[in-house]
Amino acid sequence: MRKIFLWLLLLCLPTAFQKCIFDDIQPWVRVVSPLPNQPTSPKHTGDNQTRNTNPKAPQRTDRVVSQKHQRIIRQITSRTQSNSSGLLPIRIRTWIPQESFALSHVERERLELATSKAVGIVSDILSVDRIPGRMLLSRDINKFCKFIWKDAAVINYNKCARANENYRMENCLDVTIPDDHLSGCGVYLHPNSQTMLVLRPEGRGLPDTDFVLYLHTRSTDKCHAEPGVLAYAAHCQTDRRGRPLAGVVVICRNAFHGEGYSHSRMVQTIMHELFHVLGFSKELFDTWKDCSHSSRIGEDCLSHGQVTNIDGTGQVRIYTPSVIRAMQKHLGSSEEELGGPLENLAANEPSSHWEARVLQGSIMAAALDRPELVRVDPLTLAALQDTGWYYVNQSAAQRMEWGEGQGSLFGSLATCHDNSSTFFCTGSGLGCHYLHFHKGVCQSDQYLEGCRIYKPLTNESECSKESNDKINKAEEWSGEIYSPESRCFFSNLSRENISRSVSDSPAGRCYRHRCTGINQYEVKVSGSEWMDCPVGTSIQVPGYRGVVSCPDKGLCLSAPPPPQDSPFYPATRILGSFATDRCVFIMLFRPPLFCYSNVAVFCCDSIMIIFGCLV
Ligand SMILES: *[C@@H]1O[C@H](CO)[C@@H](O)[C@H](O)[C@H]1NC(C)=O
Ligand SMILES: *[C@@H]1O[C@H](CO)[C@@H](O)[C@H](O)[C@H]1NC(C)=O
Ligand SMILES: *[C@@H]1O[C@H](CO)[C@@H](O)[C@H](O)[C@H]1NC(C)=O
Ligand SMILES: *[C@@H]1O[C@H](CO)[C@@H](O)[C@H](O)[C@H]1NC(C)=O
Ligand SMILES: *[C@@H]1O[C@H](CO)[C@@H](O)[C@H](O)[C@H]1NC(C)=O
Ligand SMILES: *[C@@H]1O[C@H](CO)[C@@H](O)[C@H](O)[C@H]1NC(C)=O
Ligand SMILES: *[C@@H]1O[C@H](CO)[C@@H](O)[C@H](O)[C@H]1NC(C)=O
Ligand SMILES: [Zn+2]
Repeated sequence: MRKIFLWLLLLCLPTAFQKCIFDDIQPWVRVVSPLPNQPTSPKHTGDNQTRNTNPKAPQRTDRVVSQKHQRIIRQITSRTQSNSSGLLPIRIRTWIPQESFALSHVERERLELATSKAVGIVSDILSVDRIPGRMLLSRDINKFCKFIWKDAAVINYNKCARANENYRMENCLDVTIPDDHLSGCGVYLHPNSQTMLVLRPEGRGLPDTDFVLYLHTRSTDKCHAEPGVLAYAAHCQTDRRGRPLAGVVVICRNAFHGEGYSHSRMVQTIMHELFHVLGFSKELFDTWKDCSHSSRIGEDCLSHGQVTNIDGTGQVRIYTPSVIRAMQKHLGSSEEELGGPLENLAANEPSSHWEARVLQGSIMAAALDRPELVRVDPLTLAALQDTGWYYVNQSAAQRMEWGEGQGSLFGSLATCHDNSSTFFCTGSGLGCHYLHFHKGVCQSDQYLEGCRIYKPLTNESECSKESNDKINKAEEWSGEIYSPESRCFFSNLSRENISRSVSDSPAGRCYRHRCTGINQYEVKVSGSEWMDCPVGTSIQVPGYRGVVSCPDKGLCLSAPPPPQDSPFYPATRILGSFATDRCVFIMLFRPPLFCYSNVAVFCCDSIMIIFGCLV
């Protein structure tokens, strides 16, 4: 039996998870931002600190490991850093180029559904100083212009002196930006005369838009260069303060194919790419603005200067106030220099993803895991806050279980092998994924750099799937139960009436659980009663040899919803309602469970429908 089991394990290695190649793309994109003297709409006032980002400027070369102490530790101010007054949810306009239309009806529907969901979530989180009127993107003066007036003394300083006859269009990655979205351009033949020869007329612009997302579905070489590439992205225009105004997300066509299509995965993929183009990008880190001393986001902000640096262990980190605070809170550490660690496969260079060893499961990790294991985490939202371009609703962050309270050394290469943390594993064999929904096998991957964690098997590893029971019948002697309330436990239980000579070391097994409080639960194995499972201990089960271990802080972590006076829990969003003469129908989104007299509650996954009959 053992032999067969091991052979199966080899077949069930986790799927190549989805990778992001953002950092291979963005450096090649020429980013356009308004020149100091080039009037373009939208016009911003009161901004005198923004330096013009020059994408061609050489990347910093002064990175040395010993720089740690040269960095000025920024004062972490206790004053509220942001004040949302006057800021409103960002309006992201999605624009699908003509070239993209080779989608089938089903694929197109999938794309639109996933995009509107992703855009909806992101704009619920981020608020901006909205662009008044219509948004017009800039034309790249270095493209439409052959000569520019460079004498600062002339009126037409920095304006175009001679047209480039070969000028055709503006692009965002490989999307052609419609003329309608672009400001006009012209030539000033005399250095001091305001007379302009129009080259291109002003476009109509985009109404009600703070960011335009060009969404392209393609089947490019980049999609096939590596397995697991679902999408890639780049931003291509910024405003005077450096905030990205336009970007493109390319979704690989094969992402839509077949039975394996997952809506949640596509939503997360689009969100991940959106966060890149909105600011979580190594090409933008050093243009982030420090708004901690301004009365409101976006105004009178200073430059952070260089925000990334290398710590004593060679880990590149982001050192900005909100990120440091979020790291301290997450790891339960008061270490002052606890920056947000960036994935550092390209040695000593920052990347646009969090370090997977420390922030496994984050929406901004380089590889997205299965959708149910991915979190829109507090660190990512803190980073977006520190761009200085957004007010971020931090309470929209999802809890990130990975590494919670594990201290500042958590996830370092020095500690991941020493059995000090239950989040990492050594040896081989079946265990439990850290969220306890899946059985897992102890493995590494290219982003873990030799550290190993229990990763879900590709197949049949979810304890909550009843159908997995049939496949795992061989393990009946261990008392496993696959059911919706089952979770993964380390156990070496075996039935007493079966003779087994060898004493087994514990492995991941599925048993039922039910919460009796926060971090308190009971366990039931096949044929047993419900048994209390005190966290941190191992319990015995009548009729079985061996023990079940009760994980600490692994199960039953969220409080049941607080009792409410109002029938609507504050986090509840009303999606829609209508009334007939006797009934009101209200559809709510993601509320916690609650009961209310005269209201019948029906739950289907994340949507709850209430039928309240008026009497
Ligand atoms: C995984 O499941 C699929 C469908 O349920 C099946 O076709 C495939 O053979 C399974 N793979 C393994 C390794 O068991
Ligand atoms: C911008 O700063 C320059 C000097 O750095 C100053 O001369 C100019 O008046 C400032 N403009 C505004 C609008 O504050
Ligand atoms: C936000 O700032 C405005 C003034 O700029 C102030 O009146 C208001 O009370 C502040 N709101 C919060 C929540 O701090
Ligand atoms: C922030 O997000 C939370 C959770 O999504 C929501 O309940 C709350 O209303 C939001 N706050 C603001 C100011 O948008
Ligand atoms: C960690 O545990 C494994 C298995 O229990 C053991 O082989 C290994 O030596 C331990 N490592 C350390 C550093 O204690
Ligand atoms: C052992 O006990 C269980 C439950 O009492 C029973 O289902 C199973 O058939 C027994 N196995 C043997 C080999 O007697
Ligand atoms: C089960 O594992 C524990 C250690 O976790 C060990 O002490 C015990 O001997 C094992 N029991 C059996 C029956 O294998
Ligand atoms: Zn990415």
